[in-house]
Amino acid sequence: VGTRKFVVGGNWKMNGNKKQIGEILDFLKKGPLNKDTEVIVGVPALYLEHVQSNAPEGVMVAAQNCYKAEKGAFTGEISPQMLKDVCVDWVILGHSERRQIFNECDELIADKVAFALENGLKVIACIGETLEEREANKTMEVVNRQTAAIACKVKDWTNVVIAYEPVWAIGTGKTATPAQAQEVHKALREYIAQSISPDVAASIRIQYGGSVTAANCKELGSQPDIDGFLVGGASLKPEFVEIVNARQ
Ligand code: G3P
Repeated sequence: VGTRKFVVGGNWKMNGNKKQIGEILDFLKKGPLNKDTEVIVGVPALYLEHVQSNAPEGVMVAAQNCYKAEKGAFTGEISPQMLKDVCVDWVILGHSERRQIFNECDELIADKVAFALENGLKVIACIGETLEEREANKTMEVVNRQTAAIACKVKDWTNVVIAYEPVWAIGTGKTATPAQAQEVHKALREYIAQSISPDVAASIRIQYGGSVTAANCKELGSQPDIDGFLVGGASLKPEFVEIVNARQ
């Protein structure tokens, strides 16, 4: 807690059209959004510029992916430089859907995180275990391995937020209990303290993601090692405002 600023991301995933985005921007404008919380919306690439120019002040915009090269023959990809060109400052990388559906491995994700940071973006780097891994008591092994892969390529963690999203809690309505989430966040912070540095461990923000709603956000947000959320489904609805204000 202490000096770590609460940070809430809304990951729209592949949702929204112009009409629905207009409605989302309306409830964000209406707020009110706690000024002490950073708010970032993760927008489909096609709508980034539109949302960047129409989002209320203080709401930052993130892409949901980008590649590890500036330009070239990479059909379908976008680069950090392109994001900067349209004034987008954030990117979500390593989401479990990228890992699972699009087969992105730890190493590719680490390369992308490093390249995005080198090119001036801020990164929400996602990690998290599957149900099988949790049931096999491998949660920390997996989460530490995913973090270590990034740590191999990233030296300056100032512009990184980690999102811990247990895969079994994503879009399932099965939220990790505050105690379960806190346990992982605390253990991850300890791992970062010994494998990266105590300073990074103390300052890095770790979001929880996975079926966060207006109903459960306050208790989750009061855990000492939970520094915000990455919200999927509920970020498309007016209740997102309540989630942003969880710490108020
Ligand atoms: O990135 C956020 C996400 O994966 C969680 O989704 O719908 O369970 O809040 P949801």
